Amino acid sequence: MAKIIGGVATSHVPAIGRAIAKELQDDPYWAPFFEGYAPLHRWLAQARPDVVVVFYNDHGLNFFLDKMPTFAVGAAETYRNADEGWGIPEVPAFTGQRELSWHLINSLVAEDFDLTTCQEMLVDHAFTLPMALCWPDQDWPVTVVPVCINTVQFPLPSAQRCWRLGEAVGRAVRSWDSEARVMVLGTGGLSHQLDGQRAGFINRAFDQQFMQSLVDDPTWATRFSIPELVEKTGTQGVELLMWLAMRGALGSKVREVSRNYHIPISNTAAGLMVLASED
Ligand code: DHB
Ligand code: FE
Repeated sequence: MAKIIGGVATSHVPAIGRAIAKELQDDPYWAPFFEGYAPLHRWLAQARPDVVVVFYNDHGLNFFLDKMPTFAVGAAETYRNADEGWGIPEVPAFTGQRELSWHLINSLVAEDFDLTTCQEMLVDHAFTLPMALCWPDQDWPVTVVPVCINTVQFPLPSAQRCWRLGEAVGRAVRSWDSEARVMVLGTGGLSHQLDGQRAGFINRAFDQQFMQSLVDDPTWATRFSIPELVEKTGTQGVELLMWLAMRGALGSKVREVSRNYHIPISNTAAGLMVLASED
């Protein structure tokens, strides 16, 4: 059966794509951010995943307000990105792992998750930038399964439900008849608010408690409603739901490999966590 080797959670601020394109990694503004990824690269070299399941939120590239699935799973042959207006260059296409996509879709629907199944799907900065942070040469050594969670149009799925989705994805991956080594990636957050009266809002204390909870009390954040999470983390800080789903997929025992937390990147508290599965 397939094995989940671990999980990674990272912010996905579009400005990261510009910094990569302009090779600003050693610039004083960017160095404390990019330096955080060196331990991730060492871990990836040794953990050698074959497949990545990516929990992320589409921001209007593939889904817009006219049609907004709560949960969507990709089952495409390939996934491309496209110009979102940020000026980030397009990256090489990602190869889908369709066998796992359909296994996930069948398993999740059997567990009463109502999904949108996407045999064609564009992926936005929330997918491409975390992949480029994992594999900076962008010669992707893995196949992918995108799992998209709505954090754009209310009502959003609760933290509890995203945790359960993550757990169900974990069960599905572990029951996939394959020798593949699977990594789970969750993208977004941490605290940030891009608009309105609280634009620029960041909550260091909450972010740090949340990061620690993923190690020693992983369902801690499920006690908060969506309005409470918005209040504590900002309107876009609710992207921490992807981190929670990622952690739900890992099972009970994890070992923290590394973490980084840096304020700010653009309007965002940028976080990174690398967790190895010990189950
Ligand atoms: C920013 C952060 C995001 O998560 C995003 O999707 C877009 C912009 C920002 O801080 O600029
Ligand atoms: Fe975002």
